[in-house]
Amino acid sequence: MENRTIRKAVIPAAGLGTRFLPATKAVPKELLPIVDTPTIQYIVAEAVAAGVRDVILVVARGKESIVDHFDIAAELEAHLERTGKHELKKQMRSIAQMANVITVRQQEPLGLGHAVLCARDVVGDEPFVVMLGDDVIDAKVPGAKQLADCYARHGLGTVALMEVPREETPMYGIAAGSEIEPRTVRVDRLVEKPKQDPPSNLAVIGRYVLPPRIFQVLEQVHPGVGGEIQLTDALAVLAREEGLLGYRFEGDRYDAGDRLGYLKANLAFALKRPELAGPLRELMKEMSR
Ligand code: UTP
Repeated sequence: MENRTIRKAVIPAAGLGTRFLPATKAVPKELLPIVDTPTIQYIVAEAVAAGVRDVILVVARGKESIVDHFDIAAELEAHLERTGKHELKKQMRSIAQMANVITVRQQEPLGLGHAVLCARDVVGDEPFVVMLGDDVIDAKVPGAKQLADCYARHGLGTVALMEVPREETPMYGIAAGSEIEPRTVRVDRLVEKPKQDPPSNLAVIGRYVLPPRIFQVLEQVHPGVGGEIQLTDALAVLAREEGLLGYRFEGDRYDAGDRLGYLKANLAFALKRPELAGPLRELMKEMSR
């Protein structure tokens, strides 16, 4: 049987982050903190918890600081050591040891599909998971693991699905199909941001477990809106050719690429911190009076 183990994650982080300007003029969106931790660190932690060993970051000019975050900060560590902050020093080192981080560059922002294609040589001939930094998932079983388990069972590309209110369907890729198993849909329609008549209320969000065949498909896909190579177009081809599954994952998802979603993520994660939960609840009560 073909290899169904997911050992590699591709994290596309080469976008311009225009929805978050001016913050993202000089700071990569992926490094904006949720409480005190960069968004991308939550994503890498989720990948590792799903069994991933190699994390492939797709970055662009000006976004090198993302890579630095996962490297050893020797000067900082020496300072923490000198000042007796041993625990903090250990924490900083553990970030550099989370995963085997590999960087590839996307020379031009030609779309999410193109960003994934940039990782082709590093991924090689094995299934992998694509994880978008905008989508932070808080779940008992890591989001990427839920999809990887589905892939292991069926051997078909699997995208994360989430029910959204009807009026929000124009903001997402929408998938429709028949349920073959609890939470698992065989996708027969995929529409990117439908302006009207969405085929369902199941939105595709930023986790995709994909077979290596996707690279060949991406090479054939014609640039769509804005000259960009859309991952959704390649997924639609995959669905037609060999089948594609959608998995309604269990857990909470935050759209950290959107201002309100980002604020919500900050509140939700802060409320999970024992040292912040109490004072924050007080503050929220006070402010909503
Ligand atoms: P988005 O369109 O949400 O990200 O792409 P963006 O372009 O950075 O943000 P806005 O919309 O302008 O605010 C989804 C993901 O795909 C990556 C982005 O970094 C983001 O994680 N991406 C997108 C690339 O890596 N390369 C691209 O050419 C486009």
